[in-house]
Amino acid sequence: MLEQLEALEQEGLSAVAEASDAGALEQWRIDYLGSKGRLKAAMGGLKDVPKEEKPAVGQKLNAVKVRLTEAFEERKSSLGGGGAKKSGPMIDLSEPAIAPALGRRHVISRVKAELCEVFGRMGFEVVHGRELEDDAHNFVKLNIPPEHPAREPIDNFYVDDPLTTDEPRMLRSQTSTVQIRTMESRKPPLRIISPGRVYRPDTVDATHSFMFHQLEGLYVDRKVTMVDLKTTLFQFARAYFGEDAEIRLIPSYFPFTEPSAEFYMKIRLRPDKPAEWVELGGCGMVDPAVFEAVGYDPEEWTGFAFGFGIERIAMGKYGIPDIRMLFENDVRFLSQL
Ligand code: DAH
Repeated sequence: MLEQLEALEQEGLSAVAEASDAGALEQWRIDYLGSKGRLKAAMGGLKDVPKEEKPAVGQKLNAVKVRLTEAFEERKSSLGGGGAKKSGPMIDLSEPAIAPALGRRHVISRVKAELCEVFGRMGFEVVHGRELEDDAHNFVKLNIPPEHPAREPIDNFYVDDPLTTDEPRMLRSQTSTVQIRTMESRKPPLRIISPGRVYRPDTVDATHSFMFHQLEGLYVDRKVTMVDLKTTLFQFARAYFGEDAEIRLIPSYFPFTEPSAEFYMKIRLRPDKPAEWVELGGCGMVDPAVFEAVGYDPEEWTGFAFGFGIERIAMGKYGIPDIRMLFENDVRFLSQL
């Protein structure tokens, strides 16, 4: 019996070494260690062994079981995860790789950067304001009186109750706030632009969104005139839209400029329609009341200011007919720009 067990162990060890994949190894396990396997059968033979030999045979049975189980585990790990890899598909290193799709900057970010670059060439420095503002910077110092319709609570995103708070905070409704913040912290002369988000509770449609971007500009020096303003806007339009860009200033009213104008450009929003006059924003000569509010002497300093919608410019540049397309983040649309 002991010899038979010895033979069983040797056979088992050489057979396990020959199992070359997970299937063969499993078959080996069933043959040798399974509930109807050869080791179980040998154990069944123990009852026929003469009494005095039983301890030695029992010990040997145990040793064979331990040895075969170890051999099985070793073989399993050397086949690597059960050997599936060896019989699985090979990697073809010559096959062309799938290039990962590269992202791109959103068209609004790109237009913003391009506008900063164009005005940068004209000597304008980029500054940033804050999106959470107070009444003083969004309205009061811009010469917008308390009864002005633009201050209606329903037309603004107030964060604090404007009726009970002295200095209610709000999401800024215009980037003109940055004119005030810049003049408060710097001495003239200055020449700045400031791109950024603004918020108004407008109903969303093809030309309105409750959040959009503006580009604010401010130029303060001695003897600045309306000619400087119009020349700057015209040069910008030609630099950004091309040599034949047409612009138009139409008299208007803003509390923080005097005189004021609306700035129009002839642009084509749809490929199937002719170019049309589109209002890009407002502009004008800085009102003396604004200079006074920031502590600049209005007898000495003069300036012009402007504020455009960046979406309008992007829509004109790329022929985008609906502002919503800019914010839906549909990559099929965005990746064409
Ligand atoms: N802040 C104005 C608006 O949002 C636009 C504007 C008009 C800005 C005239 C200016 C300006 O700087 O001079 O409607």
